[in-house]
Amino acid sequence: MKIAVVGATGMVGNVMLEVLAERKLPITELLLVASERSVGKEMVFEGKTHTVIGLETAVEARPDIALFSAGGSTSLEWAPKFAAVGTTVIDNSSAWRMEQDKKLIVPEINADQLTPEDKIIANPNCSTIQMVMALAPLHKAFGIKRIVISTYQSITGTGMKAVEQLNNEMEGTSGTMAYPHLIHKNALPHCDVFLENDYTKEEMKLVHETHKILGDSSIGITATAIRIPVVGGHSESVNLEFEKPYTLDEIRRLLEQTPGVVVLDNPEKNAYPMPIHAEGKDEVFVGRIRRDESVENAVNLWIVADNLRKGAATNTIQIAEYLIQHQLV
Ligand code: A2P
Repeated sequence: MKIAVVGATGMVGNVMLEVLAERKLPITELLLVASERSVGKEMVFEGKTHTVIGLETAVEARPDIALFSAGGSTSLEWAPKFAAVGTTVIDNSSAWRMEQDKKLIVPEINADQLTPEDKIIANPNCSTIQMVMALAPLHKAFGIKRIVISTYQSITGTGMKAVEQLNNEMEGTSGTMAYPHLIHKNALPHCDVFLENDYTKEEMKLVHETHKILGDSSIGITATAIRIPVVGGHSESVNLEFEKPYTLDEIRRLLEQTPGVVVLDNPEKNAYPMPIHAEGKDEVFVGRIRRDESVENAVNLWIVADNLRKGAATNTIQIAEYLIQHQLV
């Protein structure tokens, strides 16, 4: 497989290279692609030095698969150009996710929708991926009526600039700001841009993408997304109201049986998911599982995952693996 990583110099691009090496994809040629600023830069993959190329050159090389993580506008412009030369694009940006004819894939849930005709495949938003990993089996079993979400999101989701901002603030030096306020010792109720309905785009991604992935737009969903000065992963407080009655044992058992999900829930031993523990791992961790005593058939969960791994790079590469294994590329 000739594989291109578009945005290879970025936060997610770097993790993609790590995951590609770990999972031993059958790569015959690797193309590292970034903006004109980075063309000519050298990067090492599995001991071999690669020179970063531009998008034009990458399209000419007609890769089998292009893994995109270079922002929405790059995807909008360039994904169709790759698709036109026969490349299958798996895109991390929000550019294509809600297009009706584009699939939005979490492999454990809906990879069976993929066909060879899918030339641009969307990778969901990081906060959505980790949440639906835990919710899909519960929706099947008990029917989710309503979801109330509060997120506590890592700055790595904003990219390199945000990590630089936090480091500068911790060292007491000034530099470019990724956020409109200080992030060190702070919490910003502001992830992505504000929309006309006063929600942020990140909050509405949780609504729309969850409907699309679970294939059920009747679920009531409301979200508040918060950026906190953490690097290891995103955390989410999720309140679910079901159609049917449930027992906590059933929920624990279902989650324990779900591939990619790990239940970490032993309050007596202070064991619960935390970003510091999820960092560098591919699993989605679920804990603090407890009945919502204020309403019938409702439960509270705490869901944590490394947003750069399962929330981005790993999910993208799992999609690529599925395509290769099922000969869809
Ligand atoms: P570059 O490093 O050359 O700017 P992050 O979100 O971590 O900042 O990473 C963004 C990634 O997307 C980087 O690899 C960046 O490359 C790449 N990128 C940004 N804009 C473009 C563009 N117009 N064309 C190609 N790659 C881009």
